[in-house]
Amino acid sequence: MKIIVTGGCGFVGSNICAFLKNLSFKVVSVDNLSKTYSKLNLKRLNNLNIKNYNIDISNKDKFLKLSFKSDIIIDCCADPAVESSRKDISKNISNNLISTFSVLEKAKKDNSKLIFLSTSRIYPIKDSYKKFNIFYKKKNKDLFDESCNIIGPKTIYGFSKLASEMLIKEYNYAFKIDYLINRCGLITGPWQFGKVEQGLVSLWLWKHLNKDNNLYYKGYNGLGNQIRDILFINDLCELISLQIRNFNRIKNQTFCVGGGIKNSANLNELTRICEKITKNKLKIKRDLQTSIYDIPFYITSLKKVKKYYNWMPKTNLRFGFSILLEWMKKNYTLIKPHF
Ligand SMILES: NC(=O)c1ccc[n+]([C@@H]2O[C@H](COP(=O)([O-])OP(=O)(O)OC[C@H]3O[C@@H](n4cnc5c(N)ncnc54)[C@H](O)[C@@H]3O)[C@@H](O)[C@H]2O)c1
Repeated sequence: MKIIVTGGCGFVGSNICAFLKNLSFKVVSVDNLSKTYSKLNLKRLNNLNIKNYNIDISNKDKFLKLSFKSDIIIDCCADPAVESSRKDISKNISNNLISTFSVLEKAKKDNSKLIFLSTSRIYPIKDSYKKFNIFYKKKNKDLFDESCNIIGPKTIYGFSKLASEMLIKEYNYAFKIDYLINRCGLITGPWQFGKVEQGLVSLWLWKHLNKDNNLYYKGYNGLGNQIRDILFINDLCELISLQIRNFNRIKNQTFCVGGGIKNSANLNELTRICEKITKNKLKIKRDLQTSIYDIPFYITSLKKVKKYYNWMPKTNLRFGFSILLEWMKKNYTLIKPHF
């Protein structure tokens, strides 16, 4: 089976490429190497004999000239930084929504299926506050699932990804392009070069490893109480391979995909795990100002994805963090410039 991974030199895309290649799929990547670390991931793909086509996917005509035809396109091309999405709206919409449009046109031309990497940020910001209050006050597990409300401001990033989801459904209706949508929460693992607004977990661990005190509990009075679930990349790759193998049976569905309640933690808890495994303790500062784009709570309900694929994340927080730490130590000099 032939597969195109768009954004294949990014964190998620490069890991999916490597995983699927290992399972003997014929995989190529399409990525314009817009991230500083994309070139490092490109080397990794080259070492695995995976070709990357350097194309700006938002340029539909150029993308349609790609002669490689696939059975499935896995769309990981995006500009996933939340805060900067309101600073450069045109760039965000271009790399997210317009790129999805190009991907859909390519799928239409080649008669291929589509697996789309969406985000938990398609849910409105206000609903995260509601669920946070319920979670802490009543200890009630009111998690995010596929049926939750999607109406309301959610960030430009969330908007552009939701618009992509909607466009995919239009192409399914009008042109019979079969799809799967995975709405992912926070993902982490090796080959993620964390920044404050993208890849927080790997950043947190990297700072601990380096005894770098330049770290903040941002917003919500600087208490570090905001809570997320965490999915490790290998578990996501396993799900994607299940989705590919079962595509004819399970298609045109949207799934919430994340670490789930067992793999959820607030920032203080993340700090404790980092302290334990690195044996370093930082003086984490407080930044009291809460961004209008931040959310206090996100935990995924895994009910639907478990029912359809019998899939649950296998990697728990402690084990996932230790894998990440091993990768950091082993590749220290190579990866240092990219953090
Ligand atoms: N990392 C996470 O925690 C997370 C969480 C939820 C959803 N997602 C989704 O997963 C997908 C991948 O995220 P990631 O963390 O790997 O991001 P990333 O920034 O590491 O990778 C994105 C890749 O897309 C490429 N790209 C961007 N615009 C392009 C364009 N116009 N043409 C060609 N290539 C282009 C970039 O060069 C980069 O290599 C995104 O769709 C994102 O919304 C990620």
